[in-house]
Amino acid sequence: MAKEELKLRALVAPTETVIVSAYDGSGKADACTLAFYMVSSHVPPCVTVAINATQKRKTLQSILQSKAFVLGFPGADQVSEADYLGSETGYSADKLKNVGFTVSEACTVHAPIINELRLSLECELVHNVTVGSHMQLTGQVKRILADESILNDKARVLLDKLNPLIYDEEQGQYLTIGKKAGDAFRAGLEMKKAFRAESGGR
Ligand SMILES: Cc1cc2nc3c(=O)[nH]c(=O)nc-3n(C[C@H](O)[C@H](O)[C@H](O)COP(=O)(O)O)c2cc1C
Repeated sequence: MAKEELKLRALVAPTETVIVSAYDGSGKADACTLAFYMVSSHVPPCVTVAINATQKRKTLQSILQSKAFVLGFPGADQVSEADYLGSETGYSADKLKNVGFTVSEACTVHAPIINELRLSLECELVHNVTVGSHMQLTGQVKRILADESILNDKARVLLDKLNPLIYDEEQGQYLTIGKKAGDAFRAGLEMKKAFRAESGGR
């Protein structure tokens, strides 16, 4: 298959769009939209986001000050709100008020939960490191709050109900998740068995 060498860049297609929120020094809730997000540990549960440190993002300053943040997941029905929170700075607008989002104090950390988001992770800042233009902030998840409407009877999140926003940087658009492609840790089992048998179980 013919390959083409692409212009050097950090490809982020696709990633889940999240909204991080934190209190500034005066107690005002800041929030901004991020695509640089990953799960970084199962035990203890941790997530890591990366925020541009060269451009003095207000939410970044608030996270560093308060040592806490809430990570929320907007749904596809909240695409305009998420896009606005990522296109305007809290230095020049009361962004949360403008989009009609309300906040409540998180239970485990000093950070604001955006009530309108259907899934929120309360996080304590446990580590930060700057790599290139961005500061990576790792938060230990202290509490998870989910709307009943997105849960199954085992309290597991139903992605089709959450309907998360996928950010496609290559095409400059938001997508929704697609159809199931296979069962995790099962789709490759036959291959695993076959190759193990071939190599004598090693
Ligand atoms: C879809 C989307 C994804 C974004 N992802 C990131 C990101 O991962 N890191 C980052 O530093 N900024 C990201 N931004 C930009 C910030 O959200 C934006 O600069 C915001 O205005 C910062 O607001 P603040 O100054 O109130 O914190 C993203 C924006 C959008 C719309």
